[in-house]
Amino acid sequence: MGNPVPRPFLKWAGGKTQLADAILERMPVSFNTYHEPFVGSGAIFFRLYRDRKIRHAILSDINAELIDTYLAIRDHVLEVISILEQYPHDKAFYYEIREKDPWTMSLPERAARMIYLNKTGYNGLYRVNRQGKFNVPFGKYKSPKYLDRENLIAVSQALQDVDLLCVSFETVVERAKMGDWVYFDPPYVPLSQTANFTSYQPNGFGVQEQAKLRDVCVELTRNGVFVTLSNSDTRLIRDLYFPEYFLTDEVLANRAINCNGAKRGKITELLITNYPVERAIQLQLLETRGTYLIHSAS
Ligand SMILES: C[S@@+](CC[C@H](N)C(=O)[O-])C[C@H]1O[C@@H](n2cnc3c(N)ncnc32)[C@H](O)[C@@H]1O
Repeated sequence: MGNPVPRPFLKWAGGKTQLADAILERMPVSFNTYHEPFVGSGAIFFRLYRDRKIRHAILSDINAELIDTYLAIRDHVLEVISILEQYPHDKAFYYEIREKDPWTMSLPERAARMIYLNKTGYNGLYRVNRQGKFNVPFGKYKSPKYLDRENLIAVSQALQDVDLLCVSFETVVERAKMGDWVYFDPPYVPLSQTANFTSYQPNGFGVQEQAKLRDVCVELTRNGVFVTLSNSDTRLIRDLYFPEYFLTDEVLANRAINCNGAKRGKITELLITNYPVERAIQLQLLETRGTYLIHSAS
């Protein structure tokens, strides 16, 4: 039996497939719109969709090529498929398509290029140089599955009622309403924090951004929005998410544990919520207090 569809159509650093069960076990008992402001490959969104837990969703990310790929699959999936059908698995072709400027291509062509480079490039990395050019070398795969018709069509169906936005995470405060649920999966705080973590992060997500995200979570809580957030088990994250508003839960994840990624093992990660995670407690609080947010204005 193959993997169920729809599932992530890109390989993405920090993909959350592994934590999906833990996150699903901790969802709010009921919510309106689902928001995912660091959507990446969308592992949690697709799982929630498959489990029929979502009515309406707003997915966003700061990566414009990524959001365009989602848009193209939502609105022009057959074109994306027919372009991918013409792409050979070939090193020379890989470099030819890699050299093309995606912003001169049509939306479906740009999406097909993104999927092709992601599935045939080294390790499924998305990496651009200072000029914003994709610079991952050709990967050593025998027959990479860059054309997965069944999944692309299922993804397109799943996205039909989804709003897709290329925006930074803090804009979610303008959209999320009381009773909505937001799941944040930001770039993680590195486990081995070097002295320069505070000043520079290659992904642009340093201490200041992590603190800004915490402030966004506080504001959402004040607006009656349910929040779930994952991050690494680090002092910084434990200090930022204080107990008056947040509950911090440890979960086990299988991750690369040294810098070259060769050695893997179980490590703890943090799942933070602004509501108790047990369903029975949520229902009980709802009955007695009318809300189950840990910090509520009432
Ligand atoms: C850890 S990944 C998310 C992984 C995702 N949950 C998955 O299953 O693939 C973090 C994502 O945050 C995005 N990102 C980085 N800075 C951002 C910002 N300021 N606002 C919104 N998204 C951002 C990156 O483009 C990346 O896709």
